[in-house]
Amino acid sequence: MGRTSRKSTGIFITLEGGEGSGKTTQARRLCERLTARGLDVLHTREPGGTLLAERLRSILLDHSMETIAPETEAYLIFAARRQHVDHVIKPALARGLVVVCDRFSDSTMAYQGYGRGLDLRVLRTMNNWATGRLAPRLTLLFDVPVSVGLRRRRSRGTTQNRLDRETEQFHRKVRAGFHALARREPRRIMVIDSTQPLESVAQTVEELVMTRFTTYPRRTSRRR
Ligand code: TMP
Repeated sequence: MGRTSRKSTGIFITLEGGEGSGKTTQARRLCERLTARGLDVLHTREPGGTLLAERLRSILLDHSMETIAPETEAYLIFAARRQHVDHVIKPALARGLVVVCDRFSDSTMAYQGYGRGLDLRVLRTMNNWATGRLAPRLTLLFDVPVSVGLRRRRSRGTTQNRLDRETEQFHRKVRAGFHALARREPRRIMVIDSTQPLESVAQTVEELVMTRFTTYPRRTSRRR
């Protein structure tokens, strides 16, 4: 993946994982490393990435909100995603950037599907509608046992959001969901042991990304 190999379509990479998996730190590290290699990188996140999507994020994560039905939660996430895809991700990819996104569609399958129990087929259909079938070329799944992730999160002393406050059982279902998604698409979703020290995980991530995009041919079009 060098400057010369980048054409008008960029590379879409997503980072996924449960609470306290370290993916946000790793996303920042990856962006720094890719930038240091001379690549043009856009770092973004979900839910969020645009003014409207960030407002929806605040609603989704606000634990003082009235009870939110799983379906309502899914609609809000898809609304935010469409804004993000249209206003940020697609334009950046069209300009040839490497887009590094902290969470995307797999989080919806894991949290709203496996976690909340919404129908996976319905979610896939809605997600295709929200994204126009835009899918990441590579997904890095940062995996830690639920107890470790939640402990890390608590030890950071940050205020818990609405989803952090879910039961350990919910987070276990989410983790199992991420594993099921990785088994379904082993070429796209790479599972990374995120219990390893931060620097060693960052190194693994950089090697994985560089290997993937120098070894594999680019896909220039997607079937709609
Ligand atoms: P985070 O940015 O700290 O990971 O917080 C985002 C929260 O939103 C996290 O608890 C997972 C949740 N989420 C979903 O439930 N479904 C989704 O599709 C996305 C993108 C996030």
